[in-house]
Parts: sequence; C-alpha cells; structure tokens
Amino acid sequence: MPEETNRSGSIYGGTADPCAVILFGASGDLAKRKVIPAMYDLAQYKSLGERYAIIGFARTPMTDDSFRAMAGEAAKTISEVGPIEPAKWDEFAASLHYSPGDYADQNSFAQLAKRLAEIDAEKKLGGNRLFYLSTPPEVYPDIVEQLGRAGLARPSNPGSWVRIIIEKPFGRDLATARELNKIVLNVFEEKQVYRIDHYLGKDTVQNLLVLRFSNGIFEPLWNRNYVDHVQITASETLGVERRGGFYETAGALRDMIQSHVLQLTSLVAVEPPASFDATAVRNEKLKVLQSIRPFNLEMVAQSVVRGQYAPGKAGEKALAGYRAEPGVNPNSRTETFVAMRLLIDNWRWAGVPFYLRTGKRLAKRSTEIMIQFKRAPHIVFREREVEPNRLILNIQPDEGVSISFGAKKPGTEMSIGNVTMNFSYCEGFGGVSRSAYATLLNDCLRGDPTLFDRGDSVEAAWSLVEPILEVWSAAKSVSVPQYASGTWGPRESDQLLEREARQWYNP
Ligand code: BG6
Repeated sequence: MPEETNRSGSIYGGTADPCAVILFGASGDLAKRKVIPAMYDLAQYKSLGERYAIIGFARTPMTDDSFRAMAGEAAKTISEVGPIEPAKWDEFAASLHYSPGDYADQNSFAQLAKRLAEIDAEKKLGGNRLFYLSTPPEVYPDIVEQLGRAGLARPSNPGSWVRIIIEKPFGRDLATARELNKIVLNVFEEKQVYRIDHYLGKDTVQNLLVLRFSNGIFEPLWNRNYVDHVQITASETLGVERRGGFYETAGALRDMIQSHVLQLTSLVAVEPPASFDATAVRNEKLKVLQSIRPFNLEMVAQSVVRGQYAPGKAGEKALAGYRAEPGVNPNSRTETFVAMRLLIDNWRWAGVPFYLRTGKRLAKRSTEIMIQFKRAPHIVFREREVEPNRLILNIQPDEGVSISFGAKKPGTEMSIGNVTMNFSYCEGFGGVSRSAYATLLNDCLRGDPTLFDRGDSVEAAWSLVEPILEVWSAAKSVSVPQYASGTWGPRESDQLLEREARQWYNP
C-alpha cells in the first residue's frame, strides 16, 4: 500500500524524506523547462525538506557553477512554473550539482557513485535516491544497466529507498517497450519504477475521477444506456518547433495517442476502483485498455485517419508546413494528426463509440473530453429538434466543467434554447495551479505510484496502436492527407463522424 498522499497545508503536501535526485539529461530541454523548475516549486512550497540535492548528469562538460548558471537562466526564461524570485532561486541553486559523463561509460557511473556518496554524507540524505531519466530514449538501456553495475539501483541501507522515473516515450512499439521493461526489471523491482505521463499530474485530469466517483449524479448515467458517444480532443496550435528530428521518429500516434490520449480514455471509461490506492486504480485502468477492441486491417482503414499539417495561417501570420520544418524530411510521411474511433467491449460501454483526435497546428489549443448523452426519448413540444445534452470536461487551458441542456426561451412560444452551465477551476478555487511535473515528482518522492504507468499498461497501450503502425508503415504508396495549418485537420476526420451522423464538437 502506498503511503497516504497528504496535500493539506501546501498545494503539494508535507515534507518529503531527505533525498538526492539524479537527473540524467540535465542539460536537455525537458530538464530545464520542466523538471528543475518543478523541483524549485516543491522547494518553495516546503515539500522538499531542508535536506536534498539535485545532481545533474549529462555529456556536456560543466562544473557545478556553470550548471547552476545554465539552469538559472532557463528557469527565469522558459520555466513553466511561474515567476522565479532571484533570491529564492539562489538559495535553491546551492543544492544543484553536476557530474558530467557518458551514459554507456562505467567510469562515469563510478564517478557519479562517488560524488553521490560524498553529497549524501555531507547533507545527511540517508541514502534515499531518485534517478530521473530525461534523456533521449535511446540511452535508457545504457543508463539502467550502468546503474545496476555501479550498485546504485538497490537501497544502500535497510531504511532507505531508491526509485527511478522514466520519461515517455517508453519504447517506440510493443517489442521495444517489452524489451525496455525487461531491461529495467532486470535491475529494478517494479515497485521502484515510475513511468511518467505528465497528463496524469494535471489536476483537471485527476478531477475526472473525483467528478465521477465523489458525486451521485453522474455515475448512474455514465454508461451505454445514456451515453451516445464520447469525444476526446487534444489539440495544439504549435507545430513541432525545435523537435522536428525527434518527431520524425515518432508521429502523433506514438507521441500523443499511445500515452496521453489513451490515459484520458482509461479515466473516462474506468470502473470504480475498490479504493484509491495504486494497485486498485491501475488494475482498473489496465482492464479498460484490455477491453478496447483490437484494430485489424479493415478497422484501421475505416476508423483511423491521419494527417500532416501543410502551410496555413494564424491570423495574419503565415505558418510553414510540417515538411518545411527544421529537421524534417521534405518528403516526410510522419503524421501530425490522428483521429480515430474505438469501441470498448465491456458491459458498460458496448456499442458506444469513443472518438479520439489529436494534432499539431490545429485551430485552437485545447484538451477536452465531451460526453454526449442520448436524446430525450420523446419530445412533446412543437420544436422537435433539440440539442443533445453534453458534459464537457475542459482539461486545458480553460480548466473547468460545463454541462449543456435545453431551456425555455423567454416569451410566449414554447421555444427551446441550448444553454450551458459552467464551473471554472480558476473562479471556483481561486486560481491556484500546480505544475503537473511537480505533482508527479512529489508523489514519487513519497512513494505513491498511483498516477504513474505500470509496465503491463504501457505494453497494453502499445498493443493497441501496434496494428495501426503496421498498416501505415506497409502502405507506403498511400498519401498522407494534408490539412492547412490553423484548421481542425483533414476532411477525412470530419467524414469519420459524418458517416455516423455525428460531428466533432470543436472547443
Ligand atoms: C508531450 C508531447 O508528451 O506532450 C508533445 O511529446 C506535446 O509533442 C506535449 O506537445 C503536450 O503537452 P501539454 O501538457 O502541453 O498538453
């Protein structure tokens, strides 16, 4: 049983054990933008105690001082945790250290072990260690194996803990995910492994469980008897920015659907867990993935649409197409958009389509879940065409929940208008927002894996997308539909729903 996560007193909760966080890939974008600022945030909220150290490890040669300067520069300009106060940053930066090295080199890890032991003794960290892999995924196996060889993967004394956070992508298909799980579990025990998906750290995503399982009014309707269909949209306005090289090896199906969008699907569809503990919640989520009808060739052709952004406009600004982005092959067939229809073959959801879509350079940035309910069985009013009820969960950026229903328009006629009742997180709870990374780091530091992915779930998610990847990679002569940047994707995406007399609900 994980310890109870206590978030009272601060937005992240009380104080974690003394510990060292060893950040692999410390000079990279993710470390600078998210992980180090998240640690800073935890320190400000006193969720890290007085005794902690962050040891950066990467190939770039740097001293402690130059690492502190680099991290400080990044935290002040690109960090996503809000304004950084210079005096507080300086205090925090004293806990940053750096140990340069190569990920496959045994000596570098011996050096790291020595450094770690010195810092641990000096700061009295009690041997508690969290390794954070924020490197390119190709080097995960090297790091894990070297940690094992250096004797760093096991607690050094009976009262201490060692954990490892592994960033997505966890594998690039089912075979590589299995292989990586094998390598990791050769060195670490499953209970030490925290596979991170930052969507699970968003409060609005966690709210899905609270909305469903702490209220009496939604759950009775949350099934095939009342739900017509579900739509999940994760749309971005940005293109691939500086990540063209990486994105060419990924694409939207691997980058977003296999992870974030299937996580959201699991939480919408999950059965009530026996309790809110890691095993119970993760068992139920796994069952959802296992109940999704596997794709075959015919289903891929009929139910999955891909697209790639072509040049377009945002207001007056001209936007380049994907193939003209730096690091992208001018003839690339990598998809930047996916829309798909899936079915969950269980008693709750039999026959209810789930439509998922995600893409870059779309018309609006929004992550939203829309549950459309079946229409009233019989309308007695003259006006027969009433809108269906919709429950909309805005995950980001306008965090909140809204519900739409028909109301009588003022006047003598029995005329019906569609109205919306809104709950805004910001208005309801005073705009306190937590960083998803800080939330998850904090959970990991406390030994609570509820919001992390288990090895079997990651593999189940890859099993699901695998046939789609196979069909696409075999169909080399089929062109990838293009869509103008700043729109809602290719025409084929609309047709996917129109065939069933439905429409996308655009945020
Ligand atoms: C990442 C993907 O996991 O999630 C990116 O690799 C994507 O391509 C990002 O842009 C979206 O995250 P968020 O929190 O901005 O919705």
